[in-house]
Amino acid sequence: MDKETLLRLEFAKGLARDLGRFAKSKINSLSWIKTKSGFYDVVTNVDVEVEKRLKSAVLKAFPQDSILGEETGTNEAANSDALLWIVDPIDGTTNFSKGVPHSCVSIAIVENGKSKIGVVYDPFMDEMFEAVKSNGALLNGEEIHVSKSSELEKSVLNTGYQYSAVSMRKKVLSDYKAFFGKVRALRIFGSAVLDLCYVACGRIDGFWEYELKPWDMAAGALLVKEAGGVVVDLLSEEFSIHSKSILATSSTLLPEMVKVLKS
Ligand code: 2AM
Ligand code: CA
Repeated sequence: MDKETLLRLEFAKGLARDLGRFAKSKINSLSWIKTKSGFYDVVTNVDVEVEKRLKSAVLKAFPQDSILGEETGTNEAANSDALLWIVDPIDGTTNFSKGVPHSCVSIAIVENGKSKIGVVYDPFMDEMFEAVKSNGALLNGEEIHVSKSSELEKSVLNTGYQYSAVSMRKKVLSDYKAFFGKVRALRIFGSAVLDLCYVACGRIDGFWEYELKPWDMAAGALLVKEAGGVVVDLLSEEFSIHSKSILATSSTLLPEMVKVLKS
């Protein structure tokens, strides 16, 4: 790994750990909770505070880089060749806003549209997931791998739904129904980033969701690939961080999941 990559990886891990712990300390004393559309898509004062701290720390340390965050968009100085940090200050905000301890800080560093570094910290489990392109994936410093499952009947799958994507509701329900009774269990944990990390470390055999945004996928998708898994776009040829759908699993379970999702 080159020096510049290592420098950013270590910086991202330190930031994710510090800010994740800060978020955890505030989970039961939120100043405000607002909705961004209808009665869904919540945001709290902690999401905004964490993102502001993330942005100013990154731009101070790496002024030549750009940064895109879920809550505050991108910095104006963004230039197309710059490394782009894509951050979600809290993924799993609905959980967080209700005091459910299942959320994380997600940081991806993207070069020419492709994730180069992925760092995800879950402060409630004290779990640091990290991946660097072509260097494998780690959980708290130990190598991780996707599960070896090849049979739906022995698989536990995760999904989720983007709360305000009303047009996808029928599809979300029909997919769920299609897997119902064919798999060991279905889960909706509420943090797409952690769902991807759980696929990467084999806790979950497969995950799919529609209408996610780059900050929900850029770090976790790299983790799955570096852990030996596959990440595909169900709606178009090749997965990218801008895809409108994601399916992440092992190469052995992929054909079975695609068969059901495309049926
Ligand atoms: P969030 O907690 O950061 O909002 C739930 O299925 C997953 O979808 C979560 O990772 C959640 O991220 C994400 N999600 C829900 N609504 C979203 C939206 N409007 N834009 C982007 N991601 C969203
Ligand atoms: Ca978020």
